[in-house]
Amino acid sequence: MAKSKNIKWHHSKVTKEHRRQLNNHKSAVVWFTGLSGSGKSTISVELEKQLHTMGIRTYRLDGDNIRHGLNKNLGFSPEDRKENIRRIGEVSKLMVEAGLVTLSAFISPFRQDRDEIRNLLDDNEFIEVFVDASLETCESRDPKGLYKKVRAGEIKEFTGIDAPYEAPVTPEITVDTNKLSIEESVRTIISYLKTKGYLK
Ligand code: PPS
Repeated sequence: MAKSKNIKWHHSKVTKEHRRQLNNHKSAVVWFTGLSGSGKSTISVELEKQLHTMGIRTYRLDGDNIRHGLNKNLGFSPEDRKENIRRIGEVSKLMVEAGLVTLSAFISPFRQDRDEIRNLLDDNEFIEVFVDASLETCESRDPKGLYKKVRAGEIKEFTGIDAPYEAPVTPEITVDTNKLSIEESVRTIISYLKTKGYLK
């Protein structure tokens, strides 16, 4: 449905910059993309714990969780995945406005959908993390038993099997979880955030 003409934007007196000053750190989205079982959720949970300990205000958005509520009316067709990611992009933007370091972990299989979120945000507010693990690695982990169900023909349109995954071309960060431990992946991301001035 098209946007109504009869709506107008109301500006706040407290801005994103004010909130950042109060928090004493920048806000941005750390966007995790990768196959099911690549490690997106596990790394984002551990990263959030460490950032919180460092006094950083965070919030974590995760595919499985968001599909329990906000996006429970969406499935896994290409159209629904696109709408899933569009909504999360908008929520992520609100969280960045709220001054939070937002950790968004979604398969987000389409490059164009991820690029649209990058364009929705201001410069340097979108940090794409490619959680890179081969299909073989993900399938051998199979933490939720989903690959087993796919091979048994119980799930269709599964990313990497009979639905596409478009890897990022120039992500800000790649963590190769075929080789790196969770701790090493988290360290890589924190080190990037420090080097680029997101964290002091
Ligand atoms: S997407 O593609 O970005 O819209 O997916 P996302 O919202 O991240 O949800 C992925 C989780 O849903 C489970 N699941 C599936 N994934 C991929 N394909 C199909 N068909 C599917 N059906 C259910 C799965 O647990 C995914 O979680 P992760 O954490 O990625 O394993």
